[in-house]
Formats: sequence, structure tokens, C-alpha cells
Amino acid sequence: MGLSRMFLVVFALVVQVFGSIESFGSPTAYRGTVLHFLKNPYPAPAGSYEYYQDGALVVDGGIIQKVGSYAEVLQSLPPSVPWIDYSGKWLIPGFVDTHVHYPQTEMIGAYGAQLLEWLNTYTFPTEKQYSNAVYAKKQARFFIDQLLRNGTTSALVFSTVHKESVDAFFEASLEKNLRMISGKVLMDRNAPSYLLDTAASGYQDSKDLIKKWHGQGRLSYAITPRFAPTSSPEQLSQAGTLKKEFPEVYIHTHLSENKAEIEWVKSLFPNHQGYLDVYDSYGLTGKRSIFAHSIHLTSVEFQTMATTDSVAAFCPTSNLFLGSGLFPIKAFRDQNIRFGLGTDVGAGTSFSMFQTLNEAYKIAQLQSQKLSSLDGFYRATLGGAQALDLDSKIGNFLPGKEADFVVIEPKSTLLTTMRHLNSQTLEEKLFVLMTLGDDRNVFATYSMGELVFSQVPQTYSR
Ligand code: GUN
Ligand code: ZN
Repeated sequence: MGLSRMFLVVFALVVQVFGSIESFGSPTAYRGTVLHFLKNPYPAPAGSYEYYQDGALVVDGGIIQKVGSYAEVLQSLPPSVPWIDYSGKWLIPGFVDTHVHYPQTEMIGAYGAQLLEWLNTYTFPTEKQYSNAVYAKKQARFFIDQLLRNGTTSALVFSTVHKESVDAFFEASLEKNLRMISGKVLMDRNAPSYLLDTAASGYQDSKDLIKKWHGQGRLSYAITPRFAPTSSPEQLSQAGTLKKEFPEVYIHTHLSENKAEIEWVKSLFPNHQGYLDVYDSYGLTGKRSIFAHSIHLTSVEFQTMATTDSVAAFCPTSNLFLGSGLFPIKAFRDQNIRFGLGTDVGAGTSFSMFQTLNEAYKIAQLQSQKLSSLDGFYRATLGGAQALDLDSKIGNFLPGKEADFVVIEPKSTLLTTMRHLNSQTLEEKLFVLMTLGDDRNVFATYSMGELVFSQVPQTYSR
């Protein structure tokens, strides 16, 4: 092999291993208080997280290279490596929102209804607008900006029934190189005609979108039947066929959120054992199947969730806002069923994972259960990544993971400053954040080592 050919081969290998050419070999180091999780801290937190009060992260080519104490990391790096100093602030992995609707952003906080009336009165008319690609793109950008200013770097996202809405969302995600999952809603009955597809068109549109988007950048596709009442048996069967054809894509739907909804499903599918059995019998359960809410499950349904390794999205602000019920945290934990946290905007009332944790804690309290701050921050980061089967790529700061992280300012207001300073332990400081925190605590957000949100306006300098 000639010298120049050998150089090319080595160069290609290097690019394959380290990602983009420009960024390889130019690491950046970040200093701050570092916290990330290695495993579930419940019930025994020992060894489940790493915490460096004066810590550091090193990122190269968008990938975490090192995490440790500032002194250790400083010593290991050549003096030429640039440092960004976030001393006094916290560096934690980007939040993972395991269930949210981008086309409901503009109707967040709509008054006075429970699920089925809320869908008919507010949701469907709002989603109608997403047949317009220009509108959808504008809203997708707005939504992504809301995620990033709340420190959320990955999400499993409902689009609408319109293909255009999915294109708009994925295009906007690609602009910021975000790890996102979405899909076209399948809905061929029991909704206004302006929002209906058919079993055949839903199948074909989804297939086209999977081919176009799944695996582009950091994007993944989710086959998205809205919920059992709005899909015919034929459409659910087509969704199962798609999942067989593309086993690596996700299934994303709603399950057992509201008592009237459950009765409706019973009447629409009288030959099934229950709500989850409808999805299960069409091949829609499994490791990459995420069922939003899953509040009122029977013991048989818990068993099905466990045996199929299916996943629930716990959406506290939505469950309280729509009066849906209390997510049975203990039962999910006891049976080792994965669950992540979801904001479920627009039924959910906040994009903030702090506020989501705040309400999650209260839902636990109402059932005489506990949600510790360690457990909460685990669920919002690594737990969410595990729920979405993305923990080999995101969720913590182990070297090799994608460098999606948030810079948290614990002292965002007079009140949080006082409360932060009078808290002693890590757990206490985290609990104050999860109870009182909001977007004011998100100082900056990074996606693959690139700054994608900052409270400080960025100015051009030479
Ligand atoms: N069930 C079916 N569609 C929806 C929706 O848009 N939001 C919520 N919270 N539940 C649903
Ligand atoms: Zn939802």
C-alpha cells in the first residue's frame, strides 16, 4: 500500500471512530459541579451516581471523553485545551421527556375538561392547523426552543396525522442536531373528518416517513396510533405489520389514562381482555413500545407490561390537570417495569422537568409513596434514556456518550438562592431544585457539545 493510500485508510478510520473531521482533536473542557447517574438509585442509592462538587467534563467531536474531579481532569489534559468555567453551576445530562405533543404547545392550559371532552374541544381543532407545512415548521421551532430553554435535549414526540407535521418536526430537530423521536399520528375513526387518515394511507405515509427519517442524524421514528379508540382494528393491524417490517422503530401511543376512555375501549373492542390486550394482540407491545399514562392498569396488564418489556411514560402535570388519576409508581417499581417522565404538553402544564418532578413527588405523596430527589433526577436523565432504549447513547456522562448536557444555576431567584444556601446535603439541594426549579434555573443547554440555548445572549466576537 502506498503512503498516501495508507494515510487515507488511517484517516477514514479516525473519522469513523471520532465523528466529524472538524471537531476531532479539539477537545473542550467544562468546569462545574458534576452529577450523573450510573444506575437506578432506588431502593439503594450507594454507587448509583457520581458527584464531583468541583468537577469537569471533557467533550471532543460532540462525545464525552472524560468526567471527573476538576483537579484530576486538569492534570490529564494538555495546557492547550480550552476551559469553559461554570464554577458554582451544575453540569447534568440533558433531560429526557418521554411523552409530549409538539402540536399542542399553543393550547397549553386550556380550561375545564377531562380527557375526551378536552380532545374534542381544544386538541383536534388545534392539530388541524398542522396540515400547513409553514405553520408546522414555525411551531416546531418554537416547541424545540421551549424544550431547550428547559434543559430537555431528547424527547419522544407526537406530531399530528399530517405528514407535513412530521417533516417539520424532524427538520427543526436536525437544525440543532438533536436526538429526537417522532412519528405521524394514525387515526382513522372517532375524530373529526379533517383529522382522519385511512388504514392504507396511514400505513403508506408512515412507511415513507420511516424511510425518509429513521436514522437520519440522531432521529428515530415512532409508529404512532393516537390511542385505541381512534384506530380501527385494520389500522392497528397495519401498525403491527409496519413494526414487523421495521423492528427497530418505536411504538408510541396512549394507554389507560382516564376511566371513561377505558370503558370506551371495552365497548369498541369487546373481544379483547382489556385495553393493553388490544395493543398486545396487534404486536404493538415490546422493548421499544412506550405507553403514555398507563395509570389504571389491571394486574394482568402489569404482567403484560413486564413480560413484553414495554414502557410507561409517567406524566404528572397532565394527570393532575386532566384529573386522570395517580400513576402507581410503587407497582411499576416493584415489578421492575421501565418508566420515564413525560411533560405531555399540552395536557401537561409545563415544559420544565423540575416542575414535572415537583408534581411527580406530590402524586407519590398522595399514595403514601416516596420519590427521592436522587430517584427524580435519575428518572429525568438516565431513567428516561433507558425508557427510550437510548441509554447506550445518552443519559449520563460515561465516555463515549453523546455530549448532551445542561448547565444548571441553582441560585436563580432570591428564594432559590436562600434555599440552596441553607441546604446541606446533595439530596437536599436537589430536592429544592426539583420542588422550586423552573426554566430560570437552566443557564445553558448543549447538544453534542454545541451550545443550543443560553440565558446570556451570545454576541459575535473575533
Ligand atoms: N389520548 C389520546 N390523545 C391524547 C392526547 O392528545 N393527550 C392526552 N393526554 N391523551 C390522549
Ligand atoms: Zn399525550
